[in-house]
Amino acid sequence: MSPKTGTILVTGGCGYVGSHTVLSLLESGYKVIVLDNLSNTSSSAEPAVTPEALKRVQKILSTDEPIPFYAVDITDKPALVRIFESHPDISAVIHCAGLKSVGESGRRPLDYYNVNIAGTVNLLQVMEDFDVRRMVFSSSATVYGDPPKIPIPETSPIVASMSTYGRTKVFLEHIIKDFYRWSATLLRYFNPAGAHPSGIMGEDPQGIPNNLMPYLAQVAVGNLEKLTVFGQDYPTKDGTCIRDYLHVVDCADGHVAALKKIEREEAAGTFECNAYNLGAGTGCSVLDMVHAFSKAVGRDLPYVISARRLGDVPNLTADPTLANKELNWKATKTLDEMCADLWRWQRNNPSGYRTQN
Ligand code: UD1
Repeated sequence: MSPKTGTILVTGGCGYVGSHTVLSLLESGYKVIVLDNLSNTSSSAEPAVTPEALKRVQKILSTDEPIPFYAVDITDKPALVRIFESHPDISAVIHCAGLKSVGESGRRPLDYYNVNIAGTVNLLQVMEDFDVRRMVFSSSATVYGDPPKIPIPETSPIVASMSTYGRTKVFLEHIIKDFYRWSATLLRYFNPAGAHPSGIMGEDPQGIPNNLMPYLAQVAVGNLEKLTVFGQDYPTKDGTCIRDYLHVVDCADGHVAALKKIEREEAAGTFECNAYNLGAGTGCSVLDMVHAFSKAVGRDLPYVISARRLGDVPNLTADPTLANKELNWKATKTLDEMCADLWRWQRNNPSGYRTQN
């Protein structure tokens, strides 16, 4: 049976990874519809208003053609049903919607279980009811906890991670695997960073950013005074934590590659549920990133060293070999490109999507 190529529903499609994924899908010729509750964006939740992130996607594509959008929360099952009823051509779901702050998950665990777990179970039930049996899921390298081996292969043990947020990703991987009479791909993101090279699309966190690169970008535009480096006593080359930073455009392209693999498998009559690391395979310390981004900005960015942050592990560097081979995907962009693109975005949009362009 040849694969049913219809419309791709992207949940969380106005978020950082989601919006870049929507762009990659449209550039690859897919039809896309977007669902997002806009909880982590500066956009108005008015159903009639196109969210700013999607307007920027249209601008990059030089098109006025609207991207069908629903301001819907995945915990609202009747609303999910209505979307699937209105779009009988949905053939696959790229599921990026979810809460993702480690610190917040410790303070509001039930919200994390409700949105991430109950919301995803709703979505899976609706997909089953409408016979949509393909999913690409946003998982995270956090599922590896503090891994025994670096670089980390997908066979590394999945652990009941140190945070509630991380546990939701571990549980969801199990839930999606258990439900597998279908094709699913679990993408374990390492650290997506940077912005679209156009300088008009990027990460737009609300409030003070939790993550390193958006925080540094806010320091560079003068919205924040200095970076606090969390710990310099880790067993690494300079004492700061090592992470595998992945350009967000490469990360987005990984979703298209995952979808194409599902289509190839279905054409061959096989149905699988596999996990892949989306990482560059290169470890960079916090200070490496401070220096690389300072170079892009053209001046030294101020930082101080403080105590470790609860839950951080010394090193998360991907072994991306399996994704390179089976998804035909590879991170192509350099660290310098990532930093230059992030700086272009932040300089042009000091207030994120609230900046008028
Ligand atoms: C974090 C989450 C991870 C989640 C990902 C995406 C934790 C422990 N992990 O990844 O589960 O999937 O975000 O939301 O929160 N750093 C500083 N100063 C800062 C911010 C970060 O020194 O102000 C350091 C951190 O200690 C870490 C590195 O920078 O060593 C990267 O941090 P971050 O960008 O928050 O990503 P992760 O912690 O890897």
